[in-house]
Amino acid sequence: MAKGANPRLDRAMRVTTTTQAPVDTAADTVAIGVFEGKDVAHDLDGSPLQALLDAGEARRTFKHLALTHAAGKRWIVVGLGERDDFDAERARAAAATVVGRVGELGTRVLCWELPHRLDDAQIAGFVDGTLLAAHRFDRYRAAPPEDEPQPRLEELIVSDHHDVSAAVGRAVLVAEAQNRTRDLVATPANDLTPATLADRARELAAEHDALSVEVLGRDGIVAAGMGAFAAVAQGSDAEPALITLRYEPVAGEGFDLGLVGKAVTFDSGGLSIKPAQSMATMKLDMAGGAAVLEALGAIAALALPVRVVAVVGATENMLSGHAMRPGDVVRARAGTTIEIVNTDAEGRLVLADCLTHARELGARRLVDVATLTGAIVSALGHRRAGLFADDDPWAATVEEAAAATGELVWRLPLDPEYGELIKSPVADLVNAGERGVAGSITAAEFLRRFTGDVPWAHLDIAGTAWDLGRPYAAKGASGWGVRLLVALAQAVAAE
Ligand code: BES
Ligand code: MN
Ligand code: ZN
Repeated sequence: MAKGANPRLDRAMRVTTTTQAPVDTAADTVAIGVFEGKDVAHDLDGSPLQALLDAGEARRTFKHLALTHAAGKRWIVVGLGERDDFDAERARAAAATVVGRVGELGTRVLCWELPHRLDDAQIAGFVDGTLLAAHRFDRYRAAPPEDEPQPRLEELIVSDHHDVSAAVGRAVLVAEAQNRTRDLVATPANDLTPATLADRARELAAEHDALSVEVLGRDGIVAAGMGAFAAVAQGSDAEPALITLRYEPVAGEGFDLGLVGKAVTFDSGGLSIKPAQSMATMKLDMAGGAAVLEALGAIAALALPVRVVAVVGATENMLSGHAMRPGDVVRARAGTTIEIVNTDAEGRLVLADCLTHARELGARRLVDVATLTGAIVSALGHRRAGLFADDDPWAATVEEAAAATGELVWRLPLDPEYGELIKSPVADLVNAGERGVAGSITAAEFLRRFTGDVPWAHLDIAGTAWDLGRPYAAKGASGWGVRLLVALAQAVAAE
């Protein structure tokens, strides 16, 4: 918990499952989804819900809502559209729409009556859509603002004919990890420092037997020859942290998967200072690192049988009398020399040494997650993250995990010719190319120089980490990447 935070409001929603009918639960509000061409499967005496549909007040159109009162409860009929169009993402959106309405109604206990024949991903969608949409970042407020629902949703009950507790339980673990990621990202840089992130990693390691943690500070980073990471950290008075979390549920050599995260807890740009407007949201620049930490926590909580190492590079990027300068040449741990031409291209410097570290620990597959470039926002907006990869099968695995979780990506190219853009007249590489020319690809190409022959994928989440614009995560920190990384670990575990 961050300093200055208000623990009173920091409560997770209780989630339970039942095979009882919703009418027999303690819920004050019940939500029932109806597909096109279907009717209410289990109506109340006198068929009040079917009557709503027949009267046209309730519709089967996707996200259409209608409300009635019966049997001492509120009943919401929500349209789910065509069954063939329905997927987990639509379940999330339908759930978020219902959460918006129950907020206005003052619901404390909501019961979802799930439609028949959903798969586990769709069941999970109703659950994580509810948890994500109901999430608020209010630890700095004395009381919730007037225009927000009071009281809050306290409990979700999931009702189905058969026991869905396993799927629901998994969904809750992942959604809670995603919400914790959102809180970490939303927490301002005065409270969320590299040390705070390191503490969070220690907390996770204490929670799970198969997790162990190691943290290197400034001296350790310098001593390890991580000159690129150290150069970014040298301008800040805050102690940096190279966080290594090992998840080893089974004995073995190396790691099946290496997750690498950029955690710049504040990016001022350094001496190549950002304009005030661009700097205002730069507490978000640790979103990749936070997603990596919390995803690994969820992977451990799910007890996935796969060896995973997470490497998170945490530092501020500040200006001071000891800050790195444009023109400085530094040496990364891998031996590569880098001419720093723009101190605002700091993420790739941190990641260069983190990728090397993950490789040295024996990661056989790599994926890094980073709010790396403003250019990816120009290219893809807030809808999709940029995917870069040097290995087609690994890229396809990442694309499948993305499609399955609704955390969408779009692959961009890495032709060898782009290497021209990072040639330096004095060192092996420059850290930034010409402004306005393939900015996201340049950054990815720079990272590629540090991945050796390990299959690697890079996710540029500068657009998706914030203001995602989805019904369940519209504004502020989205926690993007947690679901995808967990699905990726599941895919690797299933190989
Ligand atoms: N943290 C920024 C990227 C960013 C921009 C994240 C907008 C979220 C929203 C990154 O460190 C950065 O400053 N990148 C520069 C690179 C340039 C100097 C080559 C950029 O995108 O302008
Ligand atoms: Mn920057
Ligand atoms: Zn940055």
